[in-house]
Amino acid sequence: MPLESRPLSGSFAHEVVDLQLWELEDRSTVDQLRQLWAHHAVLVFRRQALSETELADFSALFGPLERVVRTEWASPVVPEVGLISNLKDAQARPIGGLGDGELQWHSDQSYMRNPATGAVLYAVELPPEGGTTSWADLSAAYAALPERLRREIEGRRAVFSYVKRLAGYQGVDRVISEETRQQTPAVVHPLVHPHPVTGRKALYLDSTTTIGIEGMDNAAGSTLLDEIYAFATQPQFVYRHDWQVGDVVMWDNGFTMHRREPFDPEARRLMKRTTIFLSRERHIVPEGELATKEVLS
Ligand code: SIN
Repeated sequence: MPLESRPLSGSFAHEVVDLQLWELEDRSTVDQLRQLWAHHAVLVFRRQALSETELADFSALFGPLERVVRTEWASPVVPEVGLISNLKDAQARPIGGLGDGELQWHSDQSYMRNPATGAVLYAVELPPEGGTTSWADLSAAYAALPERLRREIEGRRAVFSYVKRLAGYQGVDRVISEETRQQTPAVVHPLVHPHPVTGRKALYLDSTTTIGIEGMDNAAGSTLLDEIYAFATQPQFVYRHDWQVGDVVMWDNGFTMHRREPFDPEARRLMKRTTIFLSRERHIVPEGELATKEVLS
């Protein structure tokens, strides 16, 4: 059966309709979904009802699942599923990560040398207002980038630091184990990648994590990055998702950034997410290197 999808509010995001993600047995449907995701970075599925195992099984159709470095955010039931939540357990300990605060424009895993760039987020409980999530299309942003900015970033690599990202988190999310610190040294990634399926070039960015541009002094690198962030997150490149319980959104961090609005700390929000190692044949997958001491000095 041909897959039915439509663009959402004239944006780059597509809603896939009439699909129950817990019973995707038809190989051709899966192939069509893979193909669709290569072209459209954000796919939305409404009215889903998934166990954690079903969420993990659906996600694994697109690549091996990553257990992210924040192991304390993992579900106790299915460790490949992360809990993004402000809820606390009976001992008043957070059950997951990322609380209720604003999350600025970022790309998951950009701080890793080999980032797992696929993400699936499933809405289980939602606050009455706030907590909406937006995505920016970094392929469209690159296509519209003024020639001067394109020239300035041509062949350049940005420096990504998990230490910077942590500083933007709230409360205990800022605290990491020695093991996590060892797993997250600063890395460099090219700022521009061609997409292996569409051939379109895209920016690879993360405003919460980049600390500069290799080979440029700190001030000049930060100024250039700020200019690009301001350009790439203009409304014409952005899809804003108003969550409903049962929504599943999957996105490709290889050519998007996303941000979340804050919400009332007294309200409940529970999201379940998976992180996927996508294939280089179908997706932009940055191949980074460790940042050298010279770059970091
Ligand atoms: C995330 O940045 O992965 C979480 C987004 C959200 O909580 O909506």
